[in-house]
Amino acid sequence: MSMNGKHVILTGAAGGIGQQLAQRLDQAGASLSLVDLSDEGLKQTSVLLNGNNHLGVAVDLTTEDGRSQIIQQTLDRYGRIDTLINCAGINPFGVFAEQDPAVIQKTLDINLVAPMMLTHAVLPHMQQQGSGHIVNIGSTFGSIGFAWFTAYSTSKFGLRGFSQSLRRELDGSGIDVTYVAPRAVKTAINSQAVYEMAEKVKMNFDEPSVVADKIMHAIEGHKRDVYIGFPESLFVRINAVAPGIVDNALRKQNKVAQSHATRENPTT
Ligand SMILES: NC(=O)c1ccc[n+]([C@@H]2O[C@H](COP(=O)([O-])OP(=O)(O)OC[C@H]3O[C@@H](n4cnc5c(N)ncnc54)[C@H](OP(=O)(O)O)[C@@H]3O)[C@@H](O)[C@H]2O)c1
Repeated sequence: MSMNGKHVILTGAAGGIGQQLAQRLDQAGASLSLVDLSDEGLKQTSVLLNGNNHLGVAVDLTTEDGRSQIIQQTLDRYGRIDTLINCAGINPFGVFAEQDPAVIQKTLDINLVAPMMLTHAVLPHMQQQGSGHIVNIGSTFGSIGFAWFTAYSTSKFGLRGFSQSLRRELDGSGIDVTYVAPRAVKTAINSQAVYEMAEKVKMNFDEPSVVADKIMHAIEGHKRDVYIGFPESLFVRINAVAPGIVDNALRKQNKVAQSHATRENPTT
């Protein structure tokens, strides 16, 4: 389905994947509400876009006021919302028992609660239109629980469950739900400790441009669930039916990763 003339809310638009995605949506002829924490970051995304019919909304997605501003400013300017892409996120790496509880809370708030609440706020408008598309950016870690990414994995498991439940609830309504799960991507969401650990355990990384192409394909095709990368997509299936096999496969890697995780104890 062409994105030409569609109006899209894109969160995380100043981030590594979001910025690439914004460029593709712009090239496809969509108008965008670009959402992120930092106004400066949004300006950096805006200068990369050719179309000028875009709106920047610098807000904290974890606040109700921030989410209301996104909806209000978008409706005031464009009068409709065709697509919501929940892409903003954080990825704290560390030992769960030693993590600051505020970091755990923040991970759930940004990665799970904010997409749910923003979706809840846009749905009445999409229902009135009789059409719409919710796109949630998950992770391989939303299907395979990863040691030292426990809060992050939990948030993405939740996002996947939310996507599936809502898709079934909206069946036949004209509103589709797409869940896209990238494997690791070279962006600033991953700390230096993650990159050092990843090199040791030979984790596969994709470029954000490649991932944005695949997300764009999923959006245009109104796909259901898209898992990016092989063999990660195969491990997702194996983990669903025989998690013990994946426990064993990851045991050695988890030990190597532990020394990096113990050095990382992010605070809010
Ligand atoms: N990179 C990976 O390895 C990877 C793998 C699988 C899935 N993903 C998912 O892909 C999505 C995009 O990640 P990315 O790699 O592009 O990361 P990124 O470059 O860090 O972009 C994420 C953006 O979200 C923003 N953000 C964080 N908290 C926010 C809040 N409360 N309100 C508004 N904006 C907020 C960040 O702003 P600040 O930078 O100012 O905090 C950042 O600009 C995330 O959902 C992530 O979980 C990433």
